[in-house]
Amino acid sequence: MSRFIKKVIDIALLILFLSGLASMFIPANVHEVLGCTFILLVIIHNIVNRNFYRSIPNGKLTKSKLVNCVCLMLFSLSLGALMFSGIALSNYLFADLKIPDIINWRALHLASAIITLFVLFVHLLIYANRYIKNKAFRITAFVAFAIAVSSIFAMPYLDRWFHKVEVDSAQIVDGKKLNLNAKVMTIYFSRVGNTDFTPDVNAVSGASVMKDHGEIIGNTQMIAMMVNNTVGGKVFEIQTVDKYPASYSETVTIGKNELNSAGVPILKGPLPDLSSIDTVVLVYPLWWSTLPRAVEGFLRNCDLSGKTLIPIVTHGGGGVGDSLEVIRRSTNARFITNPLDIYSSDVPTARSTIYNYLDSLRLK
Ligand SMILES: Cc1cc2nc3c(=O)[nH]c(=O)nc-3n(C[C@H](O)[C@H](O)[C@H](O)COP(=O)(O)O)c2cc1C
Repeated sequence: MSRFIKKVIDIALLILFLSGLASMFIPANVHEVLGCTFILLVIIHNIVNRNFYRSIPNGKLTKSKLVNCVCLMLFSLSLGALMFSGIALSNYLFADLKIPDIINWRALHLASAIITLFVLFVHLLIYANRYIKNKAFRITAFVAFAIAVSSIFAMPYLDRWFHKVEVDSAQIVDGKKLNLNAKVMTIYFSRVGNTDFTPDVNAVSGASVMKDHGEIIGNTQMIAMMVNNTVGGKVFEIQTVDKYPASYSETVTIGKNELNSAGVPILKGPLPDLSSIDTVVLVYPLWWSTLPRAVEGFLRNCDLSGKTLIPIVTHGGGGVGDSLEVIRRSTNARFITNPLDIYSSDVPTARSTIYNYLDSLRLK
């Protein structure tokens, strides 16, 4: 194969990988297609450069050859992890595989992407060293390192604070209905509804709010709307007497203080009438890797004896954390199902995930 085509493949690989890192700014289905194309091109890259593998046993084991071999081993491992975690997280191309949440796939995907990025840069630098020497090489290495580090830190930062989340509830909430043959109530706790936001609040994913034609909607609130649209029944919102501040970081600090104090926040009454309900879907955000104290207080005050509890948690990457253990300690529900966790950026596209999850519980 001509050197030109090899170069085109290499450049395409680099562009695909960098666009994969910017996943938060491109639609999830496009990210999945780009990811598969990247893996395919890596395989082609290895086939067309197979002479490298043949040359390993021959000649002297130079320092650069050794580093390259270690890089390639690390690269295959991290790429394998990237691929498997990507398949497990897939909501489109591989959604039917329904891979169980045996580990935090999102954390693995992120960690393997970071390792792949570093190894890729080292690998590229080794090749660059053939053509660029001395001071020019050191400058190139420094620039490459700076790009790698800033990609790792800048992307999540840009996502959290500059990725606007504008949604159309009418479009994303409505979908396939499910008859659970149960009297269901959806109970949720969200920052929105417990915070006095000013209408001009920034609807960015880091602030965990969305905007629908100017109306502010919380992540967990949106999921509760989707659950209710799927299974019907009533909806109840857990509200605290004292509102949380509009500032996200101040709320985070208050959430921590609540966890460190013995009591729970006072809730607005009255509690919902659950006498005619046999199944509660509890939707809550992960706070400090656990259940928000307000939700814990709600469960302690609610009689769920004889009822089924379905936990759904929204989070910024922490998964279920230890919230399930806290739920188990705090409720007298007869049966608690396996939980569903939804990453905050996936909230707008979570409707089918919710349907599939509730359907898989086989409560009918
Ligand atoms: C006080 C506080 C603590 C949080 N702690 C975590 C955490 O430990 N792990 C995590 O993944 N996300 C954490 N988050 C992010 C939320 O779980 C996430 O943004 C969630 O979807 C927010 O839902 P809401 O908009 O309905 O409040 C925290 C958010 C807040 C406000």
